[in-house]
Amino acid sequence: MSVLNLKNVTYAYKNTSKPAVSGISCEFEAGKVYAIVGPSGSGKSTMLSMLAGLDLPTEGEIDFDGENIAGLDLDRYRRENISMIFQAFHLFPLLTVMENVCFPMELCGVHPKDARPRAEALLEGVGITKEQMGRFPSKLSGGERQRVAIARSLASSARVILADEPTGNLDSANTQNIIEILVSLAHEKGYCVIIVTHDSEVADAADFAFRMRDGSISPC
Ligand SMILES: Nc1ncnc2c1ncn2[C@@H]1O[C@H](COP(=O)(O)OP(=O)(O)O)[C@@H](O)[C@H]1O
Ligand SMILES: [Mg+2]
Repeated sequence: MSVLNLKNVTYAYKNTSKPAVSGISCEFEAGKVYAIVGPSGSGKSTMLSMLAGLDLPTEGEIDFDGENIAGLDLDRYRRENISMIFQAFHLFPLLTVMENVCFPMELCGVHPKDARPRAEALLEGVGITKEQMGRFPSKLSGGERQRVAIARSLASSARVILADEPTGNLDSANTQNIIEILVSLAHEKGYCVIIVTHDSEVADAADFAFRMRDGSISPC
């Protein structure tokens, strides 16, 4: 069964003449990487924000594990099921790398004693060294920062990773590295990874690539 199933989803912002997303039906499965490409203004961010439960479709429905998310507590849906990764990393600048990963876990009630070893394992999993774990994010390269952001996103129980231009600020070697990590999270750990991207390298590495145009989606 698909993790996320969009059924004829439309989203129209208030006071606009044309919907930003229009009649989209598609499914996203666990263990797969999806890329969504398309020109600016084609509806990619609107689509991600609905998948994240930040906005509900104005028509149609989105099912998560077979249940319409419109009927769920959306704060809880987001917290428990969705991880987001951004182009600008969004790390806390005044926390160390280790604290960046521990902090959200502690907010969710994990005891600091348990959070630390778990954070260390997650950071090691994305190739961050013990020495780097003690640094502030400003003392890391862009690629390292994105890897920390990925480790942090894995600290929750979420099985869906939504990434908005995760390689937009990275050079080609780091892009390749982030792609490998996201692909292995899907193929080896079973995450459902959905990436909005301008990057053809990312789209090529995905299991499925979709193109958005004027609010509609088609395979590419
Ligand atoms: N808050 C908003 N209010 C009104 N229109 C919006 C808003 N956000 C986005 N739009 C419009 O919706 C369309 C799709 O935007 P968006 O989803 O951001 O596209 P993309 O991420 O592909 O660039 C665009 O025409 C944009 O101008
Ligand atoms: Mg956008």
